[in-house]
Amino acid sequence: MTHPAFSPSTVDPADLDTRTVGRGPLLKRLTDRIVSSAQDGSRPHTLLVAPRGAGKTHTLQVAIHRAFKHRKAAKATLLLALPEDSLAIGSYADLLVELLGTQGPDVAARAREFRGDALELEREILDLAAGRMVLVAIENADRIFDAIDEAGQGSFRAWVETSTAVLVFATAPALFPAVSSRTHPWYGSFIIEELPDLTDADVVEFLAQHARDHELASYVQTSEGLTQIDNVAQVVGWSPRAWQIVAATVDRAALQDITSAADAVLEQLTPHYQQLLWQLPAGEQRLIVELARADGPRTVTDLAAAVGISNQSASAALGRLTTSGWVHPAKADSGDRRATWYDLSDPLLRNYLHYRERREP
Ligand SMILES: Nc1ncnc2c1ncn2[C@@H]1O[C@H](COP(=O)(O)OP(=O)(O)OP(=O)(O)O)[C@@H](O)[C@H]1O
Ligand SMILES: [Mg+2]
Repeated sequence: MTHPAFSPSTVDPADLDTRTVGRGPLLKRLTDRIVSSAQDGSRPHTLLVAPRGAGKTHTLQVAIHRAFKHRKAAKATLLLALPEDSLAIGSYADLLVELLGTQGPDVAARAREFRGDALELEREILDLAAGRMVLVAIENADRIFDAIDEAGQGSFRAWVETSTAVLVFATAPALFPAVSSRTHPWYGSFIIEELPDLTDADVVEFLAQHARDHELASYVQTSEGLTQIDNVAQVVGWSPRAWQIVAATVDRAALQDITSAADAVLEQLTPHYQQLLWQLPAGEQRLIVELARADGPRTVTDLAAAVGISNQSASAALGRLTTSGWVHPAKADSGDRRATWYDLSDPLLRNYLHYRERREP
């Protein structure tokens, strides 16, 4: 079976660990942090922030796996890892029910009896932990924090503070108001860790081991192969997901042609981007498409005119898109420096939309 580019959490973490390239210092830091807090009572809550496909799930799984190889740390920790696609969460109590739900059917059934009673659910978790540290792993923390609301975030924070038992490791595609805005209960509580891009040496190492055929595996180790990797990366970037797709679908001829290799990646990303884009209101989708048409940042006025809405609505919609991590305010190299310029946060999204437009009949 080829390795899943979108759901590494279905793979044994030991296998993820052996596939891992790059990220050495980051993984060591995360692992050490879990191991020492399990034993010394420190609670360095950590948020991994990186764009889609950068390897947040993979890195989190590997760090936890490595930490649990330390016998003492494993014995002193109860792991509650919320599945990446958790949907049933509308409140803080729901979050606690879902966390307990990861501990087998009996615990899950008891948790459902207490649904709605956050204090009782908190107690259940601490009883289960029986003095161990509770490592709570929350993927897509932006969505979960939004779903439990500011009141829920406050209750969660209060429990973490008073129990002193809980360590939170979370991931998100971008910083979000619940952690970056001063007025929110979790403001300043997380150590923010960004995932760096892979380097070209990482990509060579990865393809040498995981390319779908030997020809590509040896080609990437030549200097011409390296140049082609750099060229393809101009379009698809340096995320592990893009290169996982290359490894699984591209042969030497396609890598030499650049466009075939890049198109193969963009094609595989289609369902993923479609799903993300469809979740947006139509007006916001149009702004994203307009932004993608330009090669760089655009002003609010310019975007409003292109989409045919007022400056005020464009500005409000761009504010929402900034909060949700789709766009970010950008500085213009030239032109009007007083105006606010916006650009897409994920550079691959622009290339993806160009690819789709190119393919339209
Ligand atoms: N350092 C790495 N070395 C090798 N493969 C990696 C590495 N990091 C991630 N991968 C692989 O790249 C793919 C994408 O990674 P992953 O799903 O963890 O990204 P993500 O940031 O969680 O994405 P999303 O935001 O969509 O959840 C997976 O197949 C994963 O196993
Ligand atoms: Mg993920």
